[in-house]
Amino acid sequence: MTPTYTLAPTGTGRPNAVLDLPDRQFPRSIGETVGPIRELYRRSKQREWNAATAVDWAAFDPSSYTDDQLFAARQYWSRRAWGEYGAISESPAMAIRYQMERREPDLVFFWTMRTHEEVRHAEVCQRMADACGGYLTEPVTKALEGSVATHGVRSMSFDADTPLEALVASLICCAEVIAFDVFVALIKITTDPVAKQVLKLIMRDEVRHCDFGWKYLEYRVPDMTAAEIDVCRAKVIWMIEEIELKGYHSSWLSEAPDLAEIEADRLVYEAGLGATVEEIERPLMIESIGRIRERMAPLGIELPMFDHPKIGQGF
Ligand SMILES: [Fe+2]
Ligand SMILES: [Fe+2]
Repeated sequence: MTPTYTLAPTGTGRPNAVLDLPDRQFPRSIGETVGPIRELYRRSKQREWNAATAVDWAAFDPSSYTDDQLFAARQYWSRRAWGEYGAISESPAMAIRYQMERREPDLVFFWTMRTHEEVRHAEVCQRMADACGGYLTEPVTKALEGSVATHGVRSMSFDADTPLEALVASLICCAEVIAFDVFVALIKITTDPVAKQVLKLIMRDEVRHCDFGWKYLEYRVPDMTAAEIDVCRAKVIWMIEEIELKGYHSSWLSEAPDLAEIEADRLVYEAGLGATVEEIERPLMIESIGRIRERMAPLGIELPMFDHPKIGQGF
């Protein structure tokens, strides 16, 4: 199962070395190998939904909100759609990696559904932005373009020096899990019934996306070397310190927060149309990182305590 990068014509040490692996099709087994992941694939098929019909769009009543609230909500839901769209493009990069490394077929099966699910998340968020007055194709503040760009996972997908397990640990078991924990709170505080419906539908899928990460990591860890586990640890720490705590998901955490975005999010939050704010997210980040640390420890991935000027020390 371990990929043979030494056979690749150019060897490792290049960012896209995964693509240099010999493309071997056979033998090709597609039977069940990792039971828990195959089960997630089955669940994905059973739990399909359609963004056009699963939400009672006609029930949305824009007259209950001010123009400012609706404009802020358009920005918020458009930004969500861009984020989901980003997930669509990182998704096939991972699928190519599974194939090139001849990983267990269950991964490809599930991941194809995952890609499809991110598509419908993008669609449902775009529809919600439309309901609020119109989906926006770019940030109102030009300077924000950088902060809504990809966090570098796509380019890491083909990096042979980053084991796939380290990608799974950092991208899924860390970033996606934190996003999920914030999402659970978001659903609780969102009062608009249509916005709530949209969020619940997305969450229904995201629970599997997180599960996938943990199940695969738990399956792989017993066969991994100490050095590989160490890379997992380094990547998770990088994800927490350089991505999450620098404000990739939450602008208030960044050194130079975008005040217009924070204000707009507060309007959306107060209207009950979907956003979270600093005082809601702060305790969630602490809890979420604590839970990730607890769950990773038995896998041999020991995380340190973290500090952040706006959260505190040693969480
Ligand atoms: Fe998503
Ligand atoms: Fe997801």
